[in-house]
Amino acid sequence: MSVLFAREGASVACLDVNKEAADDTVAQITREGGKAFTDVVDVSDVAAIAPAVERCTQKLGGLDGLALNVGISSGLSLPKMTAEAWDRDYAVNVRSHMLFAQKALELMAPGGAIILISSMASQRAGGRNPAYESSKAAQIALGRAIARAGEDKGIRCNVIAPGFMDTPMGRDASRRRSDRAVTVPFGRQGTGWEVAYSALFLISNESSYVNAHTLFLDAGHMGGIVRG
Ligand SMILES: NC(=O)c1ccc[n+]([C@@H]2O[C@H](COP(=O)([O-])OP(=O)(O)OC[C@H]3O[C@@H](n4cnc5c(N)ncnc54)[C@H](O)[C@@H]3O)[C@@H](O)[C@H]2O)c1
Repeated sequence: MSVLFAREGASVACLDVNKEAADDTVAQITREGGKAFTDVVDVSDVAAIAPAVERCTQKLGGLDGLALNVGISSGLSLPKMTAEAWDRDYAVNVRSHMLFAQKALELMAPGGAIILISSMASQRAGGRNPAYESSKAAQIALGRAIARAGEDKGIRCNVIAPGFMDTPMGRDASRRRSDRAVTVPFGRQGTGWEVAYSALFLISNESSYVNAHTLFLDAGHMGGIVRG
């Protein structure tokens, strides 16, 4: 998403707890002649979020888009779930998104856009992963709440819910459940680029009348398009 947004002319602040990962993205953007910088933040730290949004907005010279992509999964089934693991998934997957959006709505230029990355898991119990699944479902309601709060300023908020994606998190989930992705449509998982092109549409003015919407980006998996 960051690389694609930069290709379209955006200056991008890449926020991640993992400096190396964010630096890697920034390096790719600057190699291509784009503008980006890293800002290291642990989004589970409540006190760190508003200052990070302020700092980045100042450094960017304004804020007109926010993509909330960070997500984690304890992978614990209901019998094994602990209160600590549950709170951790929710702190990263839901609370941080609320806090980022709250501050961004204050600082963002009218006409800006926010996107959240939820998951197909928001609709299915297939992963036996209740904290992840329910936190991803909560993001869809949060997206609507952000759209409601942003309406006065003409700020839109939409949600993308990907299916099975070939990312470090996706590969980790497939290692835990080897049958996880065998029935995926087209015989392959989705890519970060496929999420990024939809995100680009939703964060740009090209989608100016799309609001409070959830886009299932799953090659039809949720609609029953499965192999075998
Ligand atoms: N991979 C999939 O199959 C899949 C499917 C549907 C939805 N998603 C969602 O897509 C989004 C991106 O997932 P991904 O697959 O690229 O995962 P990933 O684990 O590959 O990347 C997540 C990123 O979040 C960062 N991060 C984790 N905890 C953080 C914290 N406390 N503070 C700041 N940064 C933190 C990590 O360092 C990493 O760079 C997530 O919200 C995930 O739930 C993934």
